[in-house]
Amino acid sequence: MKDTDIMSADASSAPSSTLASVPVRLSDYTPPAYGVEQVDLVFRLDPARTVVQSRLHVIRQPGTPEGAVFHLDGEALELLSLRIDGREVGAEEYHLTRHGLDISGLPAESVLEIDTAIAPEQNTELSGLYVSQGAFFTQCEAEGFRRITYFPDRPDVMARYTTTIVAPRTVPVLLSNGNPVDAGEAEGGLHWAKWEDPHPKPCYLFALVAGDLAAVRDSFVTRSGRRVALAIWVREGDQDRCAHAMDSLKRSMRWDEDVFGLEYDLDVFNIAAVSDFNMGAMENKGLNVFNTKYVLARPDTATDSDYQGIETVIAHEYFHNWTGNRVTCRDWFQLTLKEGLTVFRDQEFSADMGSRAVKRISDVRTLRAAQFREDAGPLAHPVRPETYIKIDNFYTATVYQKGAELVRMIRTLIGREKFRQGMDLYFQRHDNHAVTLEDFAAAMQDASGIDLSLFRRWYGQAGTPVLRITDEYDASAHRYVLHVTQYTPPTPGQEEKQPLLIPIAVGLLDETGAALSFRLEGEEKAHSDTRILRLEQETQSFVFHDVARAPQPSLLRDFSAPVKLADTPADRLRFLAAYDSDPFVRWDSGQQYATQKLLQQVAASRDGAAPSLDEGIMESVAASIARAPEDPALAAEAMALPAETTLADAMEVVDVEGIHAVRRTARAAIGQHLRAALRAGYEAWSTGDVTALDGRAMGGRAFRNACLGYLAAADDGKAGEGVTLAWKQFQANRCMTDVLAALSVLADTDVPEREQALVLFYDRWRGDALVLDKWFAIQAMSSRPDALEQVRRLISHPEFDWRNPNRVRAVLTSFASGNQVRFHDASGAGYAFLADAILHLDGINGQIAARMTAPLGAWRRQDQARAEMMQAQLRRIAARPNLSGNVREIVDRSLR
Ligand code: TRP
Ligand code: ZN
Repeated sequence: MKDTDIMSADASSAPSSTLASVPVRLSDYTPPAYGVEQVDLVFRLDPARTVVQSRLHVIRQPGTPEGAVFHLDGEALELLSLRIDGREVGAEEYHLTRHGLDISGLPAESVLEIDTAIAPEQNTELSGLYVSQGAFFTQCEAEGFRRITYFPDRPDVMARYTTTIVAPRTVPVLLSNGNPVDAGEAEGGLHWAKWEDPHPKPCYLFALVAGDLAAVRDSFVTRSGRRVALAIWVREGDQDRCAHAMDSLKRSMRWDEDVFGLEYDLDVFNIAAVSDFNMGAMENKGLNVFNTKYVLARPDTATDSDYQGIETVIAHEYFHNWTGNRVTCRDWFQLTLKEGLTVFRDQEFSADMGSRAVKRISDVRTLRAAQFREDAGPLAHPVRPETYIKIDNFYTATVYQKGAELVRMIRTLIGREKFRQGMDLYFQRHDNHAVTLEDFAAAMQDASGIDLSLFRRWYGQAGTPVLRITDEYDASAHRYVLHVTQYTPPTPGQEEKQPLLIPIAVGLLDETGAALSFRLEGEEKAHSDTRILRLEQETQSFVFHDVARAPQPSLLRDFSAPVKLADTPADRLRFLAAYDSDPFVRWDSGQQYATQKLLQQVAASRDGAAPSLDEGIMESVAASIARAPEDPALAAEAMALPAETTLADAMEVVDVEGIHAVRRTARAAIGQHLRAALRAGYEAWSTGDVTALDGRAMGGRAFRNACLGYLAAADDGKAGEGVTLAWKQFQANRCMTDVLAALSVLADTDVPEREQALVLFYDRWRGDALVLDKWFAIQAMSSRPDALEQVRRLISHPEFDWRNPNRVRAVLTSFASGNQVRFHDASGAGYAFLADAILHLDGINGQIAARMTAPLGAWRRQDQARAEMMQAQLRRIAARPNLSGNVREIVDRSLR
């Protein structure tokens, strides 16, 4: 490869982010004109200049006219040479643009050889091939492969790959997809390894990892008796933090066999951990790449929720091997086909591993906090979007979490057995293909015989439906009727909404909380278990026969649909919170009740009333504490007050200060009134094995730390019993869960121990990036009035690194999404700070900068002064020339 081989420099150094932004539309989909059967790649690794040789076996598709253009995407590439069937092509045979390479006149079958050069060490966007701490990693989903070589970068082009990696011997570990087939030494201090992936795949599943990494090894024998070599690749010294990830992997492999009959399909399964990563992890075939945050854990470095996150993400990526890899998406509009389904699968896995009720509660909490919020704002979009500019912007709570709820509703509607048969049929029909949501729904419908055509509206309609319910009881006829109305508020681009098919799980209770039996219209016998009502129209009535007494309805059990229930009377919420047999409804009713009462106080305090804590809230927290011995995890969930952001989401116009003050006062009052019970709860759970990770052990820690939080709240930021306990707990240094809980209590205070603890923590963990992230995050989330000043200090701290997404999130996301009262400070300083940060970040990593932009879009529900300041910051960002397509898209949609 000589310099004179360079054919065009036109595209060589343009970062992806500055490329023109043209919307892509679902309705424009056309199948590829050319297929690629085989891809043979050779990488000569060099951080400054890596040369990639690609050899493609290209087939013109049936129906494609002769002479049709073959488009290969390419971005930030230097084209070195291009050959067709062994012959160097002339300049008139291809056309090079900033988006890629167009070749016309290819024969029915041809071999394309393309050599490109790339600069991994310059790659700060972490998409394509990049360097992190001296090692090489790739990230190709969604459109990163085009930053490695010219290729039709779309998921419906599936090919078999071989990958040969050539590198200096100082880069000892060379990994790619599939199975290792050969390796050897080469001249000049080089060595090489060759990998072969027998399964056809889209290029977004390509991966390469190379560097001086250490392996933690294990093995797994599949149910048909094949031994799979497992390895987790980490930096030297991190080997003692991989046990939980490995254990989670083996449990995932077993679970997918047991529950879905799905077996692993290669001889090796590798996981590589990297510190610099845009998302959580990536399911590349046979070579998952993980953010270190979702691999590394030891009781002294990771919290219980870190452990749970690892279990979930390990499972999620592993489950993609079937839902995503073996059966993949036709185009990126179908993203939820793999993500919604795989989230559903990882949720079910975690539910089976621990407490199903607690898992469901925490999944619904996440759904409401992220997805309902998204659905209510300017970035609302259907689970299957119709148009996008940057697909990276659509890896959202809607596609993931709401998508998982849609899968769950299908299972609820057709039943578990039919659902499993539907999955089997889906794999039978579509293995090794790139398919659509219609294909998935058809498999479910055909296997169950239940009509799902109406259900499909869920995929195209954005917004969270609201259910309004009234009821009546006819004592003489023993007849009970529920009248249900559904309404979905308009979302951007969708003014008119259609009624959806909504499964409502219902049970009836008598006045003592015992289940009442009933017979639904059309049913022969009465029974007292949960039944599913199918709401299909805007308004519908459901008749219950043989109901002995006036019932209390328990609705939406286990959260049977991602909807809101409006206006449930407070006394009914209190009743359900105390008596329902469904743990989700019990928890939720308590939360809804607290939300109603706290918001009433927010309103009252605006009218000058002094805050006084509702006795129902107090009673329910006391009851939760009393029930802790049964299930401490559930108690911890039930005794928590709704978050400030949850209260904000329930207000027409957010009262930032009012919410903060009322919630804080309520917590202090609970801490004071229930001090004895809290103290007893705290003491009762203070022993135990800190390395135990079962639900009860983790629940015990969660409950104990919830008690600590209230005891400290009673001190209201000053010295007192809670603060003393927190300081002791911090010093005891038993495990990260307890240390961090104590530190976050102290971080909100004004006592000298606060600074002491922060310094101690920093000194202890300064060499450990993941733990240090916690130190950054806790300060960014502090509710102290000087939080913004602290955050400014944090981003000029020597350990702050704009190129590391985890560190950036630890400060910016924690502040903008996890610190409502300080981010939304009335001065607008929080907004200006965030906008500055986004502008700085955009030149480094557009994907991450775009994610930081969403909080500014929430201006519509703020008061007028805040709304204007937020819009002004959005406009300031919009005015920047050369903004990345990622940020441009989010800013434009946020201002609309
Ligand atoms: N498919 C990945 C997952 O959900 C998501 C992902 C990882 C991703 N890295 C990414 C998406 C980078 C966009 C860009 O498991
Ligand atoms: Zn995924």
